[in-house]
Amino acid sequence: MTNLKENTRLILAPMQGLVDDVMRDLLTRIGGFDECVSEFVRIAHTVHSRATWLKYVPEIAHANRTPAGTPCTVQLLGSDAENMAVNALEAVRFGADKIDLNFGCPAPTVNKHKGGAVLLKEPDLIYHIVHTLRQRLPQHIPLTAKMRLGYEDKSLALECASAIENGGACALTVHARTKVEGYEPPAHWEWVRKIRDAVSIPVTANGDVFSLQDYLDIKTVSGCDSVMLGRGAVIRPDLARQIKQYENGETVKDTDFAEVSSWIVQFFDLCLAKEANNKYPVARLKQWLGMMKKEFEQAQVLFDRIRAVKEADEVKQILLSFEQEMHS
Ligand SMILES: Cc1cc2nc3c(=O)[nH]c(=O)nc-3n(C[C@H](O)[C@H](O)[C@H](O)COP(=O)(O)O)c2cc1C
Repeated sequence: MTNLKENTRLILAPMQGLVDDVMRDLLTRIGGFDECVSEFVRIAHTVHSRATWLKYVPEIAHANRTPAGTPCTVQLLGSDAENMAVNALEAVRFGADKIDLNFGCPAPTVNKHKGGAVLLKEPDLIYHIVHTLRQRLPQHIPLTAKMRLGYEDKSLALECASAIENGGACALTVHARTKVEGYEPPAHWEWVRKIRDAVSIPVTANGDVFSLQDYLDIKTVSGCDSVMLGRGAVIRPDLARQIKQYENGETVKDTDFAEVSSWIVQFFDLCLAKEANNKYPVARLKQWLGMMKKEFEQAQVLFDRIRAVKEADEVKQILLSFEQEMHS
């Protein structure tokens, strides 16, 4: 069985509705990431077509890499082990070369259908799902999983992690919160260490890394070499690059908003190339600026300029003149 044994890996988190293929493309171009994971593909009663897989994870058609060449894993969410296995095999038939399982999504609709974090109440079912997929997938396809620390409390955290290991997953990512803790700080990095000490597969630490210092702290507290960045990588698009510069012993450079403004134009162009209608590119841009304005005050300025604009062409003109201002 494949066992991933990499050191100091930096992984871009799966984030449904936020880190789609366009955001993965941009962030992996900026650099620093060793790997990324798709938004979850929900498995209910149907078997997805090739078109559906490619809609969620277009990287499948490009040797599972983003345009910058960063590997992308396909994430599945569900609770029907048999149908998940059938779907995973289809994804592999269409080209997927690594599968991750989601045991952490807190969304009520998903949990109501027995998917995501609610499964953390049932370690036996987690084992069954992982084991079924491991048995059915070809041996050369790595199977990994991502979990939270529990649903209401952390009492089953170690049991769930062991179920994932014993089921045959070759690596585990831990978002250091329960479902009930949502996204409230703090993330309990010390629990990632407990899990890391309890299992023998590699563990990736995740939760609340917003700066290089957070990265250093999560590594120290969790004892993990591998770290996953979620919201921090969207708010601070050069965070992974900074971390990689640090790890490579290079001078760590903070980006400035002139550089960020060029990424914004690039992002908008990539969104337009994906869907030329106004809604998608404009909505995605507003969503991103809304997050970045916590970190960069110029993001607030730009946000205010496009706030009421709906037409993509008009937004593009505003972006270009803003970018020019930033570079002058
Ligand atoms: C908008 C949003 C969507 C998310 N979607 C997924 C998902 O599809 N699959 C998954 O495993 N985790 C998902 N997560 C959880 C993140 O992968 C990550 O575990 C969490 O945000 C904590 O990391 P962070 O503090 O670095 O953001 C999502 C989180 C957010 C905020």
